[in-house]
Amino acid sequence: MTMTCLKVFTLLLVSRLAYSDAPQIGAFSFPKELDAGMRASVQCAIIRGNPPFKFSWFKDEHKLTDARGVSIRKFDEFTSNLVIARVEADSNGNYTCQVSNSAGFDQKSAVLLIKGIQFLLRNRLKTKSAVFLSICKVKIANVKNSQQEK
Ligand SMILES: *[C@@H]1O[C@H](CO)[C@@H](O)[C@H](O)[C@H]1NC(C)=O
Repeated sequence: MTMTCLKVFTLLLVSRLAYSDAPQIGAFSFPKELDAGMRASVQCAIIRGNPPFKFSWFKDEHKLTDARGVSIRKFDEFTSNLVIARVEADSNGNYTCQVSNSAGFDQKSAVLLIKGIQFLLRNRLKTKSAVFLSICKVKIANVKNSQQEK
C-alpha cells in the first residue's frame, strides 16, 4: 500500500516537472572584485521552461533600458546579457532579471556593490565602533573615579 502511494506520488511529481513550462532562471551574481571603472557583466539564463520568453531587467525596481553605459543583449532564446561598461558608485544596486512566458514568470536578483564603497562602509563602521569604545572608556573611568571618592 505504502509502496503504491510512493510510486503514484513519484509519477505525479515527475509528470508535474516534465509538463510545467513556466520559466526558471538560474542564479547569477556580480564578481566580488569589481571596482570603479571596471566592466560588469551578468547573464540571465533560463534553465527550465518553454519559449517564447519576455526578458526585463530592473535596477532597484526601475526598469533598465539600453542607455547610459548599460547594454542589454539577447544572446539566444534562453539567455539575456546585461553589461555595465564602467561601474561607478551609482551603479551599485539590486539588479533583477524578470522572465515571463504564457505559463508564468520567474525573477532572480543580484546585488552590485563595488569594492571602493565596501571599503568606505567598513571604515565608517570602524569609526563608529571606535567612537562607541571611547565613550565606554570615559564612562568606565568616571565610574572608577566615583568609586574611589567613596
Ligand atoms: C532585490 O530585489 C528583489 C526583487 O524586487 C527582492 O526580492 C530582493 O529581496 C532584493 N534583494 C536585496 C538584497 O535587496
